[in-house]
Amino acid sequence: KKVIHAALLGFGTVGTGVYKVLKNQEEEMEAKLGSVVRIKKIMVRNLEKAAVKVEDPSVLTNNWEEIVNDPDIDIIIELMGGMEPARTYILAALEAGKHVVSANKDLIAVYGKELLDMAETHHVDFLFEAAVAGGIPIIRPLKQCLAGNHMKEVMGIVNGTTNFILTKMTQDKMEFKEALALATELGYAEADPTADIEGLDAGRKVAILASVAFNSRVVFDDVYIEGITKISAKDISYAKEMGCDIKLLGVARNTEEGIEAYVCPMLIPSTHPLASVNDSYNAVFVNGDAVENAMFFGRGAGELPTASAVVGDIFDIARNMKANCCARIGCTCYKTIPVKKMAD
Ligand code: NDP
Ligand code: HSE
Repeated sequence: KKVIHAALLGFGTVGTGVYKVLKNQEEEMEAKLGSVVRIKKIMVRNLEKAAVKVEDPSVLTNNWEEIVNDPDIDIIIELMGGMEPARTYILAALEAGKHVVSANKDLIAVYGKELLDMAETHHVDFLFEAAVAGGIPIIRPLKQCLAGNHMKEVMGIVNGTTNFILTKMTQDKMEFKEALALATELGYAEADPTADIEGLDAGRKVAILASVAFNSRVVFDDVYIEGITKISAKDISYAKEMGCDIKLLGVARNTEEGIEAYVCPMLIPSTHPLASVNDSYNAVFVNGDAVENAMFFGRGAGELPTASAVVGDIFDIARNMKANCCARIGCTCYKTIPVKKMAD
């Protein structure tokens, strides 16, 4: 078996999800990738808290040097969040020739170019599908499947926590605070949920989407942001009287005067497709000159949906590593899976 070793940095909601999804894929992985991805180390702050979540606690560490200096580890999966030490660790990992997967939109919305440049310099991958809209594939479709378009617009619901809060306030008449507490309990909210409710998280995602869609450099500071903290139960019932729903929308438009990027709560007719995007679901609309309109929909936050996107990136890297494999005589990297004959 060709084994690819990876290390997780962070073992909270998403890190735990990635560990579970990789375990769940153990049987199929080799057939899918021609190799098996194994988590060799998991970095956390609190070793005791994490010990109950793993079969073998010796995988846990709080020593970064042990990970970055391990020549066996080819992929680093950064799921700690925040700016530092995440930025320093990712740059060091890329510099050491390791591929990196991250879900850290805070960091990517500001330092994305620096991280991608470092990856390019060292001929390794830096992938971040999970950083926008959780489990929804959107970064790779924009970069690859839709690359033949001049993109005009990317917009939608890109924050699960606020969409969950607005849904609960609208459908169950729940108080804002109670709905936020529930979103936090369900693992949707950021470590500091101010980032969600003030629209900052959505703003970071809009910056990343605009950069990828328009092949340009849009950073967090370029995005105008207004969150949902001023939305009251009264606003929601007035909206309903007008046949509308309130949704926090993120919009990026490529105009003749330049790129417009903003996040704010908006009234949308209850018949509009976005009005039926509820709970922690997200939806992203794209408009390109060739494809015209396309819409992406799915869970925008949470343990397993986000892990789905992270593991997709890990598998992509593993596949690329296979393509660049040793190719020596007797190499098993290209071993094919036998095709079962169908019964007559
Ligand atoms: P959590 O707060 O649940 O987990 C963070 C983990 O990182 C914890 O295990 C924590 O360890 C560890 N950690 C934090 N700082 C350090 C450090 N300096 N050294 C070592 N370990 C550290 O966060 P999430 O799992 O929710 O989010 C992780 C990332 O994924 C963030 O960037 C977030 O924005 C992003 N994301 C989250 C989504 C979600 O639905 N939750 C969806 C999409 C992206 P300890 O517990 O020991 O402190
Ligand atoms: N806090 C984020 C959200 C997590 O609620 O959308 C997913 O990026």
